[in-house]
Amino acid sequence: MVAPTDSYRHWTLLVLWLRLVSYICATNVDPAVLDACPGYNAQNVKTEGGTLTADLTLAGEACNVFGEDLTALSLRVDYETKDRIHLKIVDANSSRYEVPESVFPRPSNQAVSPDSASIQFNFTTSPFTFSIYRSSSQEVLFSTASHPIIFEPQYLRVKTNLPDNANIYGFGEHTNPFHLPTDNMTLTLWSKESPGLPTGTNLYGNHPVYFEHRTTGTHGVFFLNSNGMDVKLSNTGGTSLEYNAIGGVMDYYFLAGSESDPAEVARQYAEVAGLPAEVAYWSFGFHQCRFGYKDFVNVAEVISKYAAAGIPLETMWTDIDYMDRRRIFTVDPQFFPMNRMRDVVDYLHSHDQHFILMTDPAVAYLPDDPGYLSFHRGKDLNVYLKADNGSDFIAIVWPGVTVYPDWFNPNVTEFWNNEFREFYDPETGLDIDGAWIDMNEPSNFCNLPCDDPFQQARDQGLPPPRTSSPPDPNAPIFQNDSQSQLARRDDILNPPYAINNAAGPLSSKTSMTNATHANGLQEYDVHNLYGMMMSIATRTAMLARRPGKRPLIITRSTFAGVGAHVGKWLGDNISLWEQYRFSIGGMLNFATIFQVPMVGSDICGFNGNTTETLCARWATLGAFYPFMRNHNEIHANDQEYYLWPSVTQAAKSSMDIRYRLMDYFYTAFHQAHTDGTPVLHPLWFKYPKDANTFSLDLQFFFGDSILVSPVTEENSTSVDIYLPDDIFYNFTSLAPVEGTGSNVSLTNIDFTTIPVHIKGGVVLPLRVESAMTTTELRKKDFEFVVATGQDGTASGRLYIDDGESIEPSQMTTVDMSFKEGKLDIKGTFDFPTGVNVARVRFLNVEKAPKKVKVNGKTLGHSRIKHDATNKVLDVTVDVAFDKDLSLELS
Ligand SMILES: *[C@@H]1O[C@H](CO)[C@@H](O)[C@H](O)[C@H]1NC(C)=O
Ligand SMILES: *[C@@H]1O[C@H](CO)[C@@H](O)[C@H](O)[C@H]1NC(C)=O
Ligand SMILES: *[C@@H]1O[C@H](CO)[C@@H](O)[C@H](O)[C@H]1NC(C)=O
Ligand SMILES: *[C@@H]1O[C@H](CO)[C@@H](O)[C@H](O)[C@H]1NC(C)=O
Ligand SMILES: *[C@@H]1O[C@H](CO)[C@@H](O)[C@H](O)[C@H]1NC(C)=O
Ligand SMILES: *[C@@H]1O[C@H](CO)[C@@H](O)[C@H](O)[C@H]1NC(C)=O
Ligand SMILES: *[C@@H]1O[C@H](CO)[C@@H](O)[C@H](O)[C@H]1NC(C)=O
Ligand SMILES: *[C@@H]1O[C@H](CO)[C@@H](O)[C@H](O)[C@H]1NC(C)=O
Ligand SMILES: *[C@@H]1O[C@H](CO)[C@@H](O)[C@H](O)[C@H]1NC(C)=O
Repeated sequence: MVAPTDSYRHWTLLVLWLRLVSYICATNVDPAVLDACPGYNAQNVKTEGGTLTADLTLAGEACNVFGEDLTALSLRVDYETKDRIHLKIVDANSSRYEVPESVFPRPSNQAVSPDSASIQFNFTTSPFTFSIYRSSSQEVLFSTASHPIIFEPQYLRVKTNLPDNANIYGFGEHTNPFHLPTDNMTLTLWSKESPGLPTGTNLYGNHPVYFEHRTTGTHGVFFLNSNGMDVKLSNTGGTSLEYNAIGGVMDYYFLAGSESDPAEVARQYAEVAGLPAEVAYWSFGFHQCRFGYKDFVNVAEVISKYAAAGIPLETMWTDIDYMDRRRIFTVDPQFFPMNRMRDVVDYLHSHDQHFILMTDPAVAYLPDDPGYLSFHRGKDLNVYLKADNGSDFIAIVWPGVTVYPDWFNPNVTEFWNNEFREFYDPETGLDIDGAWIDMNEPSNFCNLPCDDPFQQARDQGLPPPRTSSPPDPNAPIFQNDSQSQLARRDDILNPPYAINNAAGPLSSKTSMTNATHANGLQEYDVHNLYGMMMSIATRTAMLARRPGKRPLIITRSTFAGVGAHVGKWLGDNISLWEQYRFSIGGMLNFATIFQVPMVGSDICGFNGNTTETLCARWATLGAFYPFMRNHNEIHANDQEYYLWPSVTQAAKSSMDIRYRLMDYFYTAFHQAHTDGTPVLHPLWFKYPKDANTFSLDLQFFFGDSILVSPVTEENSTSVDIYLPDDIFYNFTSLAPVEGTGSNVSLTNIDFTTIPVHIKGGVVLPLRVESAMTTTELRKKDFEFVVATGQDGTASGRLYIDDGESIEPSQMTTVDMSFKEGKLDIKGTFDFPTGVNVARVRFLNVEKAPKKVKVNGKTLGHSRIKHDATNKVLDVTVDVAFDKDLSLELS
């Protein structure tokens, strides 16, 4: 959802204007000036076990580039685990703002001995510089040598040398290439509403973490800091990476990763940022949404039309349109009356479908309107963010003049839980199955200086009147079917170092940086946490409604660790081919680096009009987003899949693959929840020694073994894809495809299909066929596809539970392994699936075996088919899937 501007053209101009403003405001300093700063000397160095402490004192005349250099710092280094070093440098003399534990709980320190650690901390004392190196190879991973650290009240600088043209990934949220250019790149972290997702600017979320990949290993660095910052990558005078933060402390976690398996660093980051929350099985079904559904009749009509088109619709969503004058926790009494919306929700639920609504944080400021109870309940609990003078901080969002909930206020849980309980009450309100939280940067339409928000809201015509006439209220539907306040002298409105905020000044288009939270913290420090904290509060409220059930919550603004609570959509993109391409890198950032696996981009594009071919291709790519939702903007033409025959076909054929793979992906997601293994992998994760893969961000693995290689150019029916030196299988024909570590041209790719390959070495669990809902899907039989790798073996895993409990009481976990002609399917079968194993298909089988035994019993010939062209051996099994199973070929 974007700020209210009339059209595509207007917001394009807005984006250009904002970029211009950012150039004027951002700070550019000659690196030589910073490198000439004195740095610090280390004294009084003490080591005890895995802990090192030292006093750092300014090593020469202060350089005072953006304020006065602090004279005395304290250093503490902890070997927290064998693969993690925690380094912290703080002001020795007074406490400074640090990210609160309530928002980002710190990982536990296992206090290991440096001798057992896979990375080491090394340092010089005068001046103090430090490096991190790999114990086994002594390879330096991070080094501040010749770049003195700078610590001023509102400017913190740490700079490391990197190998030439280092392979760096991460630092979101951004729409730069996944493999970050190291040449003159600035990545700014400051939550910002970002219509159109402009490349090279700060976007909604803040993840100060990167992974660096070398052929000798992959490691990670996480900077735990929520203040605004610019991270600069440069090739001038050797490749380097520089942090420029405007507050907080220097708090770094160095992650050793591994010399052979890139996924290891992702798991180590999950130990710091938290394991991602599991979502319900149904969440992986197809979601339909748009801004601009006119009324309940329109919503019902879309649901019916999906059914009529035979396209699986799992979840229907409604954007802010449903609200009464865009006030949260209300429905429009004429256009979306409660009783009729309840009919819609009941209908969905009775068809095993789901319903989700948007909830924004901003509450309409209506002190004189006693009818808007939500505002008054919040006011009575005093939960709104405050201005400097103690009054409620006034902003402008969709309903006009608004106030923001203060997620640090101890009463906010009571407020938010209660509003969710009342409005989303299953008996009297809207019985939502998930929550969608937006505008939580927080976004503010008030232009600086926001002297008179009331006048600005009137000038902007908020809330806009409805343009259609209301439906007949009886219209038939579905006919076819805590830190203490810190003394502050700083300039928190215009700090001396201006980060490259695309909106210009820090407070532009968001809350003022001097707005104050109940615990005394100011937006200057905690701005980047707002969306994260709304996510936590919303999860709490959803859990209070349905205790014990995994909630699906999708947010726009994020901070490191948000994946432990919610999922994320990539915000207000545009219906453009370049944005279709960007979506892959954006999704890989969240799913692979940031530990937010439930992620997806608005399919077919949000802003602007889509085209038939873009929507068709995007429907096929979107079928491999973890979170699969078609979403559209109010001024754009309709884009439901069923509107074009080609898009209908594209959606059906690709969803057919997704749904059959649902349990495979659900298992991957469960694994992510268990140990942080990513659910999507860039190619280099699987081929870490193959340098050709390092910059690829248009192909990816869905789970461990499904290679997705979309067509990437407009009007094209061909694509050059990279196939590493490995064996693959065409997902459709199951025929083997030999990869040779080179590009392969695929041609004649119809607009309704997407190239998908199975990476050899896996036993895939598939449902034998797809279904219209995930509930129905779970009643379909399984089949196993044995896709051997170069060494002739294959293995896989399948996890099944009730699909919704946070702590399921019964679980089925099965390991599949194939070698020397024998497939073993073994595990625990506590969750009753109630279905059969219908068949097993063995790939790359040159000729039919003489005999096939199932659990030791030879099968009749009629149950064995061999397709010599595609080399597929198809064995009909038909046994209940409730105990171990073995198949032998001889
Ligand atoms: C800051 O702390 C250091 C070491 O703890 C001490 O020597 C120094 O006097 C303090 N400076 C101020 C201004 O308090
Ligand atoms: C550790 O630092 C010292 C001092 O700079 C240096 O001589 C040594 O080579 C470093 N060790 C490694 C493994 O980088
Ligand atoms: C780096 O990028 C900035 C902003 O995009 C530009 O102003 C500057 O000239 C560039 N510097 C170099 C050395 O290319
Ligand atoms: C919480 O709400 C009560 C009224 O119910 C109010 O008296 C109290 O001041 C509020 N607490 C805070 C921190 O605002
Ligand atoms: C922030 O500070 C400015 C300048 O002192 C003041 O005019 C404004 O009212 C303050 N705003 C808030 C939200 O406290
Ligand atoms: C606080 O400041 C705002 C403007 O920044 C003003 O509208 C409001 O009346 C002030 N409140 C008090 C109690 O002075
Ligand atoms: C979308 O198409 C409609 C009519 O087909 C047109 O009125 C509108 O201007 C188009 N929007 C954009 C952003 O091109
Ligand atoms: C794609 O085809 C459409 C319709 O023929 C045409 O308008 C458009 O310019 C083409 N785009 C490209 C990039 O060739
Ligand atoms: C996979 O096989 C199908 C059926 O034979 C064929 O139409 C398709 O082009 C193949 N796909 C790729 C990517 O080779």
